[in-house]
Amino acid sequence: MIAQTPPMGWNTWNTFANDINDELIRQTADAMVELGYRDAGYEYVVIDDCWSLKERDYTTGRLVPDPQKFPRGMSDLADYIHSKGLKFGMYSCAGVRTCAGYPSSFDHEYEDARTFAEWGVDLLKYDFCNFPNYANNKNRYLTMSMALRSTGREIVFSGCNWGRGDPWNWMRSIGAHMYRSTHDINDSYASMADILTSQLPNLNANAAGCFNDLDMLTVGMHGKGHVGLENCTTDDEYVTEFVFWCLAGSPLMMGGDIRSLDERSRKLLQNRELIRINQDAECRPAYQANGTTKDFPILIRMLSGGEFALAFFNLKDADRQLEIAFPDIGVPYSSGVGIDLTDILTGAHIGIRRDDMRLVVPAHGTRIFRAKLITL
Ligand code: GLA
Repeated sequence: MIAQTPPMGWNTWNTFANDINDELIRQTADAMVELGYRDAGYEYVVIDDCWSLKERDYTTGRLVPDPQKFPRGMSDLADYIHSKGLKFGMYSCAGVRTCAGYPSSFDHEYEDARTFAEWGVDLLKYDFCNFPNYANNKNRYLTMSMALRSTGREIVFSGCNWGRGDPWNWMRSIGAHMYRSTHDINDSYASMADILTSQLPNLNANAAGCFNDLDMLTVGMHGKGHVGLENCTTDDEYVTEFVFWCLAGSPLMMGGDIRSLDERSRKLLQNRELIRINQDAECRPAYQANGTTKDFPILIRMLSGGEFALAFFNLKDADRQLEIAFPDIGVPYSSGVGIDLTDILTGAHIGIRRDDMRLVVPAHGTRIFRAKLITL
C-alpha cells in the first residue's frame, strides 16, 4: 500500500525548472539524508519537466533522457536515490507535449508507464498542458493510472490538472494518490494565500490513499529560483504556508534548494509536531469552525489518540484579534470539559481553557495549538 499518509519529498521545478542534471539530483539526495530531511519524513526526489530530449527515439518510440543533463541514464540515478533510502519521482503530461514543450504521454501511456517502471520510478507527476480539445480529462488520467498499475510496480500517481473538472470529486476514484487543485504557486504571499483560501471548501475529500496537493512549497526560496520573485514571501509567511499545508493534509513537496536553505526554513520544514499532524494515521481532513471566514479561518483537525489541532489564520494585511467560542467546536461549558492547549510554534503550555479562546494573530500570520480534552 502506498500513500497511506500524504507523500513527502522534493521537486525540481520551483527552483530549477529547465536547469536540472544528474549531479544536482544526486547532491539533493545527499542533502536529504545529511541535513535531516529524510529522518523528518521526506522521501521522494522528483524530477519535474525538462528531463528528456525534445523528440522520442524514432526507432523505439521511447522517451529519451537528455544525455547532456543525465549522462548516466535514469536507472543509474534511480539506483543511487534508492541506495540512500529514498524514492525516485519523475514527470510526464497527459497532453501531446509537456508544459515546457517536451514529448509527453498522450497516446503513449502504456509504453511510457513501462519505461518509468523499468527505470525504477516510484512516483509519476502527470501534468495537463497541450491537452487535445476532443480528449476527455478523466479518461486520460484513468488511462495513465491503469497503465501504471499494469506494470506491477507500486508507483504513486500524482495527477496535476490544476483543479480542472473538480478533481477532488474523482481523482481518488480513478486511482490517483494525490492531485493538484490549483494554479502554479510562486514565491509570493498572494499566490500562497490564494491557494489556501481556494481550497478551504475542498479539504474534506482527503483520506488515506489520495490527497489534495496544494503545490510544491516555496518555504526558504527567499526570491531565488524559477518561481522566485523580488517581492517574495517573508519568513513569517512561510510559517503560515507550512502550517496550512500540514494541517490541510497536503503532500509536502519542498521546492527550495535544500542543499543550502537557511537554518530557520530548514527547522520549519523539519518541525516534528507539524509533520506529525500532516502524517497523522487517521488522515482526517481539517474542519473550518462555524462562522469563520475565508480571510480569518479557524480550523480544527482531529488527531489519533484523542487529541486535536486548533489553528487561527489571519490572511489580511493588519493584525487582528480572532476568537472562537468553544460550543462552535463542540465543547460547551455545560460539558464539564476544558481544553488543554500547547502552542506548537513556541512550545509554550497555555493551560486549560473553557468557554472560548481569544488571541491576536499578526498580519499574514498563524497560531497553532495542540489540544486535549480534560474532564474537570
Ligand atoms: C505546470 C505544472 C507545474 C510544473 C510545470 C512544468 O505548470 O503545474 O507544477 O510541473 O508545468 O512545466
